[in-house]
Amino acid sequence: METQVAAPLLLLLVGVCLARREEYYDDVPDVGFTSQYGPLWPLPQKFQTSAVVFKLSGASFRIVDAKESSSGASCALLQNAYRRYFNYIFPSTKKQGHNKKKTFVSALSELQVWTTSADSDCDGFPDVTSDESYQLSVDSSVAVLKAAKVWGVLRGLETFSQLVYEDEYGAISVNRTEINDFPRFAHRGVLLDTSRHFLPVKVILANLEAMAWNKFNVFHWHIVDDPSFPYLSRTFPQLSQQGAYHPYTHVYTPSDVKMIIEFARLRGIRVIPEFDTPGHTLSWGKGQKDLLTPCYSGASPSGTFGPVNPILNTTYEFMSMLFKEISTVFTDAYIHLGGDEVDFGCWKSNPDIQKFMEQQGFGTDYKKLESFYIQRILDIVSTTNKHYMIWQEVLDNGVKLKPDTVVNVWMGNQLEAELEKVTGAGFTTILSAPWYLDWIGYGQDWQKYYLAEPLSFKGTDAQKKLVIGGEACLWGEYVDGTNLTPRLWPRASAVAERLWSDKDVRDVNDAYSRLAQHRCRMIQRGIPAEPLITGFCPHEYSGQ
Ligand SMILES: *[C@@H]1O[C@H](CO)[C@@H](O)[C@H](O)[C@H]1NC(C)=O
Ligand SMILES: *[C@@H]1O[C@H](CO)[C@@H](O)[C@H](O)[C@H]1NC(C)=O
Repeated sequence: METQVAAPLLLLLVGVCLARREEYYDDVPDVGFTSQYGPLWPLPQKFQTSAVVFKLSGASFRIVDAKESSSGASCALLQNAYRRYFNYIFPSTKKQGHNKKKTFVSALSELQVWTTSADSDCDGFPDVTSDESYQLSVDSSVAVLKAAKVWGVLRGLETFSQLVYEDEYGAISVNRTEINDFPRFAHRGVLLDTSRHFLPVKVILANLEAMAWNKFNVFHWHIVDDPSFPYLSRTFPQLSQQGAYHPYTHVYTPSDVKMIIEFARLRGIRVIPEFDTPGHTLSWGKGQKDLLTPCYSGASPSGTFGPVNPILNTTYEFMSMLFKEISTVFTDAYIHLGGDEVDFGCWKSNPDIQKFMEQQGFGTDYKKLESFYIQRILDIVSTTNKHYMIWQEVLDNGVKLKPDTVVNVWMGNQLEAELEKVTGAGFTTILSAPWYLDWIGYGQDWQKYYLAEPLSFKGTDAQKKLVIGGEACLWGEYVDGTNLTPRLWPRASAVAERLWSDKDVRDVNDAYSRLAQHRCRMIQRGIPAEPLITGFCPHEYSGQ
């Protein structure tokens, strides 16, 4: 009896397994294909190369400021970058160069870096208008990297380092190349979530480094949420004292935050913090009395709490002081104010809120109450001279927004209609919906991220111009310092190329060839980027 049942069941299971495998193996790229672009990632906009090879000697090669450059030795950002990239180009054993005595027939002796704009932005912060374009020319014994601003230099140094390879005899080489490059989208972000799990500063820094290798330029820091409040506020220290997982070991101190922002700046990366309200705030309530709405069960409080209490003056006094602090701690012109997934159940249960709804004439439309709250938060943040980003619900629910608001679209259903609507209303838009990297499954999902096209919705050219980029989001429910890095890379790299390269760069075979090499390069540079599929790297990851 048992075996009779088991046999068909087994067949069924085998069938399911085969079906699954087939589904994924259908779109496996041709792993034998080699891209003519070598290991470049993301692919530059204009690229020309030839078979003429120059050799580089670790003992004599230099990255130098061009005489004509507007930024010289006093630009710490560039000096810092030269050191980083020198180390990438010459991994430790090659620094002295076993070719020291050899003189090459055609040697590349230096890379001259030339910022052409009178103000190279050396001491500034990157912003959404930053010029990241650059030109790179390797065609004689001196290579030239030219950019208006330091931001373009950073992108160009990364590209130069990707052009350099070890030939079959171990000599460091680079082919004659001309590149003219610029990003397709101005906002290319990665969202990390430090509330569901605390991410040690070291892990954040390592991923900022990897972001720079992929030409990402925004770190969207979803810093607090329901589970924990790791941001140490000078004005309200009890928020992290009570709301963090641990008040000393699981917090970001003011100096941590400062270090992260500076580390990011040196790599041309903006840090946009998200302080999401009125939902997603349970951890806030632990250190700030009366901030959250008490939920009711029948006529009496149930002991649980809901979203921020929007009917108390003290709420707005608190928010004013907190956002005043945040606006000085974080240097970027934008703050993300969240506004997603507000659960109305608790508000509905609370008699004081019911009374307030009546007084305001909101009827039973709790979206109006949410709008009332958000409107006031937006006004508060406006007085700090910051601009704001919000999740799409805020617009969907009819909140009146300042015209410079950036709307973050994250919902996958009816995505194209939403993009049409948001851009139709004239708002600058950032797209996250296709790139929720916390959703994992069997197979090569990088292709799905890679092929997602941000501008495929119906709309005028003016509407499409309003989409300024997108973000790869790695929410933290199942992610902490143990698995963040391999889960993010190289899957986020697929998003990086979609947002940097030309829209017609969509060949999955070509992408696979370059991405597999890019992943091995990330491993060689020290981060555990997970494999795309069966294969190997010349230098395997062996832990640190
Ligand atoms: C660089 O030059 C070598 C030697 O001529 C050639 O085999 C190789 O394909 C070239 N690489 C690229 C990316 O053009
Ligand atoms: C809240 O502030 C408003 C405007 O300043 C004021 O009219 C109102 O009385 C205050 N409410 C409470 C409960 O203090």
